[in-house]
Amino acid sequence: MRIPLIAGNWKMNKTIDEAKAFMQAVSEQVTDPADVETAIAAPALLLSTMLANNPGQKLRIAAEDCYWEDAGAFTGETSPQALAAMKITYVIVGHSERRAYFNETDDTINRKVHAVYRNQMTPILCCDETMGRLEAGEKIHWVVSQVTGALKGITEEQARQLIIAYEPSWAIGSGKSASAEQAEEGCYLIRQTVADLYSDDVANEMRVLYGGSVNPENIDSIMAKPNIDGVLAGGASLNAETYLQLVHYQ
Ligand code: G3P
Repeated sequence: MRIPLIAGNWKMNKTIDEAKAFMQAVSEQVTDPADVETAIAAPALLLSTMLANNPGQKLRIAAEDCYWEDAGAFTGETSPQALAAMKITYVIVGHSERRAYFNETDDTINRKVHAVYRNQMTPILCCDETMGRLEAGEKIHWVVSQVTGALKGITEEQARQLIIAYEPSWAIGSGKSASAEQAEEGCYLIRQTVADLYSDDVANEMRVLYGGSVNPENIDSIMAKPNIDGVLAGGASLNAETYLQLVHYQ
């Protein structure tokens, strides 16, 4: 039985005071992680404040990225070793915005997936799909190549813990989510790719999320799909009340 995960991605938003206020409003209102797991990925600048204002630790705190080395002369980068020492649980890797704006490649993403596991954290690997590739009928090829490239050298045991987020970039930030059927198709394809790389058993254990304009109005239909284990919400996770509506979707 895969535990649902309602995750938020704040991207480059919020100040330390705003993050503290969010945690005070949300951290004790989320569900028991054994029933529905919750997580917020936030800018590195905010993580210490969030961890310090998370009584009960029900809400997982995640990073939005990290470098693939643990330490060294990499000015401006975020160390996965330091994140793990802060008790960060998840790290988003390969978000479409990092692929688009910061030249992330399957190789850099694969290095980061290894670095996250090496530091005993769990990656939330993002798999995007552009409208151009969708219209060109390249959906299957593009999804398969991203997942395959990101998981090079990842063991079966590591893959069992993996979380992959299907995020059609044409739905991100647009206010227009993919339909529940489109979301299911993408998540099913990702799960099938993992089954081909490892086994059905591994594919059925790992979790697949949908991201792209998720909101309280569409989450029910999305979460009702068999291959969708949760969401990765951007805009809807910025507001405490709206995020709690996502958390209590059932
Ligand atoms: O990582 C999730 C994000 O890309 C989705 O953003 O604002 O469309 O929910 P949004």
